[in-house]
Amino acid sequence: MSIQDNFRLAMRRYIYSVSIMSNKDNAGNPNAITVSSVTSISMNPPSLLICINKSSRIHNSIELGSKFCINLLNNEQEDISNICSDEDMYDQRFKDKNWNLQNIPFLVNAQANIFCKVDKLTSYHTHSIVFGLVEDAKYADEISTLTYVDGEYK
Ligand SMILES: Cc1cc2nc3c(=O)[nH]c(=O)nc-3n(C[C@H](O)[C@H](O)[C@H](O)COP(=O)(O)O)c2cc1C
Repeated sequence: MSIQDNFRLAMRRYIYSVSIMSNKDNAGNPNAITVSSVTSISMNPPSLLICINKSSRIHNSIELGSKFCINLLNNEQEDISNICSDEDMYDQRFKDKNWNLQNIPFLVNAQANIFCKVDKLTSYHTHSIVFGLVEDAKYADEISTLTYVDGEYK
């Protein structure tokens, strides 16, 4: 097997938390993408990073200083995770009644919402690493985070 095959199978052994990154482009159109690559960096300043594929539709709308939200999903939000990770379901991404689209789009019923401003962007081959400065965070008290392991939700 190739290095890529072994790496992919090794990474499938990780347990991921599933989030949706959401934002608006310069014209005010909302975007959303399912992501598992969210990692906190620091508390001082409060910051996190996400790796975003350059071929994804949200990628072009991610600019220095632009705002976004990381919506950590709960275990009843598998459907919206599937919708936001399927390019053929693009037109359904904002049909869920739990989106608040007034300003930065966010899911009101998520496990947590972390509101950020893009502080730095680093290109790495197929992906951009997006560094977010955290401006606000909300969370639900009961912890029931949606997780993903070996290609399946748990
Ligand atoms: C559980 C899960 C985690 C994912 N994590 C990421 C990620 O961290 N970064 C990324 O660019 N794509 C990730 N994807 C893939 C994108 O969600 C998927 O390719 C999406 O369709 C791209 O958006 P688009 O259809 O608007 O182009 C993930 C998919 C799943 C199911």
